[in-house]
Amino acid sequence: MTVAVRVRAAAPADAAAVLDLLGRVARESPLAALEGVPADPEPFARALGRMGDGGAVLLAEEVAEATLVGVAVVARGPGPARHTANLSLAVAEAARRRGVGRALVRAAAEWGAEQGVERLTASVASGNGAALALFGALGFSIEGRRPGHLRIGGALYDEVLFGAGVAEVRARRAPALRRPGVVR
Ligand SMILES: CC(C)(COP(=O)(O)OP(=O)(O)OC[C@H]1O[C@@H](n2cnc3c(N)ncnc32)[C@H](O)[C@@H]1OP(=O)(O)O)[C@@H](O)C(=O)NCCC(=O)NCCS
Repeated sequence: MTVAVRVRAAAPADAAAVLDLLGRVARESPLAALEGVPADPEPFARALGRMGDGGAVLLAEEVAEATLVGVAVVARGPGPARHTANLSLAVAEAARRRGVGRALVRAAAEWGAEQGVERLTASVASGNGAALALFGALGFSIEGRRPGHLRIGGALYDEVLFGAGVAEVRARRAPALRRPGVVR
C-alpha cells in the first residue's frame, strides 16, 4: 500500500519532532548506524535556521494527518567534493514500504539540482537489506566497499558506498507521482 506524502524542508520549529523520529529509527534499526542523535533540540533548531546551500533536512509528512514519517539529511561534500551530497534516510518503522523513502530520495535530487549538486552518495552497512534494496532500486550503483568498516552491536559489517548522478535519479520517475512533492 502506498501513502500520500508531502516533502518539505525542515524549519527550526520541527527540530524536536525530527530528533524524536531519528532517535526512534536509531533504536528500531541499529543497522542504519544513525548514532549520536542529539537529545537537545535547541542547537539543532538553530542549525536548521542556518541551512544554506551546504545541506538540507527534508521531511516527509503524511498528507492526511501531517504526521512526520520520514527524514532525509542531505550534506554537501567539502572543497573539491562540493558537487556531491551525501544522503541519509530514516523512515518510521510503521510507514515503511509505502514509498516514503523513494519520495525523500527524489526530493533530495530536486534539492541537489537546484543547488548545482551533480552526484548523490550514500553509505550503507552491508547487513542493511532495506537500504541496499532501496538505493539499488532507485538507480544508485555500488561504487566502493570498505570491508569490516562498521562495528554495530559487536559485529562487523562492510560499509557499502552508493552513488548516482542527480540527473539520473530525477529522470527515474516514480510511477505513481501525481504532482511535485506528492506521492500516492
Ligand atoms: C531504508 C528505508 C529508508 C526505506 O524506506 P521506505 O520508505 O520503506 O522505502 P520505500 O517504500 O520508498 O521503498 C522503495 C523501494 O526500495 C526497495 N525496498 C525498500 N525497503 C525494502 C525492503 N525492506 N526489502 C526489499 N526492498 C526494499 C523496494 O524496491 C521499494 O520499492 P517497492 O516497495 O515498490 O518494492 C527504511 O527502511 C529505513 O528508514 N530504514 C532504517 C534507516 C536506514 O537504514 N537508513 C538508510 C541509511 S542511509
